[in-house]
Amino acid sequence: MVLVVILVLLVLGTVIFHFASPWWFTPLASNWGSIDTTINITFWITGLVFVAVNLFMAYAIFKFKHKKGQKSHYEPENKKLEIWLTGITALGIAIMLAPGLFVWASFVKAPSDAQQVEVVGKQWHWMYRFPGEDGELGRTDPRFVSEHNPFGLDPQDPAGQDDILVFSNILHLPVGQPHKFWLRSQDVLHNFAVPHFRAKMDLVPGTVTRMWLEPTRTGTFDVVCMQLCGTAHHAMRGKVVVQEQEDFDQWLASHPTFADTQSRAYRGDQDIGRALYATCASCHGQQGEGNQGLNAPRVAGLDQWYLERQLAYYKDRVRGYNDGDTYGQQMAAMMAVLPDRQAIRNVSAYMAAMPETQVTPTITGNTARGERLYRNFCSDCHGSDGSGNYHTNAPRISGQQDWYLERQVTYFRDGIRGLHPQDSHGNQMVMLVQGLRDEQAIRDVVAYINTLD
Ligand code: CUA
Repeated sequence: MVLVVILVLLVLGTVIFHFASPWWFTPLASNWGSIDTTINITFWITGLVFVAVNLFMAYAIFKFKHKKGQKSHYEPENKKLEIWLTGITALGIAIMLAPGLFVWASFVKAPSDAQQVEVVGKQWHWMYRFPGEDGELGRTDPRFVSEHNPFGLDPQDPAGQDDILVFSNILHLPVGQPHKFWLRSQDVLHNFAVPHFRAKMDLVPGTVTRMWLEPTRTGTFDVVCMQLCGTAHHAMRGKVVVQEQEDFDQWLASHPTFADTQSRAYRGDQDIGRALYATCASCHGQQGEGNQGLNAPRVAGLDQWYLERQLAYYKDRVRGYNDGDTYGQQMAAMMAVLPDRQAIRNVSAYMAAMPETQVTPTITGNTARGERLYRNFCSDCHGSDGSGNYHTNAPRISGQQDWYLERQVTYFRDGIRGLHPQDSHGNQMVMLVQGLRDEQAIRDVVAYINTLD
């Protein structure tokens, strides 16, 4: 009898939970209402079967419970019952699956007026590419992938020259315009998913997958990776900003074409950079060696892409905006001496070419523990030798001043650095350093980094 009551309560509880649950679809932001319909059909059919089977089980337990002297009899075949059960099951499965086939067929077949956009995924971030005026995406090949050509575009293909490159996890799309997505992975299996759009698709190494959608309302929506793709899978996030066409056009125009990125100016001019660096030298030193007394870290030995990104962050107050980051705020104020992106490029080119300087360690700790923590949380992106990796957006940390590293890790942990919505790589650091639970853990890791180089 207890079992009967439990089964009935289970059914009742499940049904009530289904209707009263706060966890339901996020409000739809694309044309894919039909995906919701197919999921709802599945819920209804599996729900009805769940209720019917469990209530029947409760009924059977109640009705046929053990009585003295009563014997069950064996009936292995019942043609009529089998035909009914097979028929109803087949019908239920057909109703569940058939609508999905129609929705899937249209999901991968974009309308003819769809614009194109490419999504490139790699451990652990996203990049996007739009065709330029020719409306055509240029050819790509993994052989061409490098720091100066992260998308791997074929330099000989004229169609690729005007392709617009977005080196950011944040994608913008115009509202009401269908878009055909081409999806590529540069390493392992990823999955580009925007829950509000009800659209997701695997990125499969070695092939290009596709889907399409039309954003139906403006807003900012999360991009998540939905295939377990390594240690920082949970940090492989992004955003889609859906906006009016003219705002989108403005955003798109602010990005370089492939040809722009291959120009000499884009690489920066060290000679112009040297003159600009004169102001920086008063804190960071003539040789870029840093100055602990002035809280200015060493800049010599850092990669140009990292310097450029951080200076641009300071300029746009994506870094150095938090009241807890006094030194960052000082730095952001100093950005007045670098009027634009070209100035940032030039001075970064100059700093990146500075010969490395030696630093004196000031922090000691348990390096064995530090090594364990480093292997768990840092080495997949920054490299086992701490030399950094352009492709994971991880700067070089070996040879850096330890007091600076300690302060930055603490800032990330406390959300003083890296929480700005435009700092997607900083966001990742905030998530990853949560594994360094106390001050000592941070000191141990930094002490271990001192031993690298
Ligand atoms: Cu990429 Cu998970």
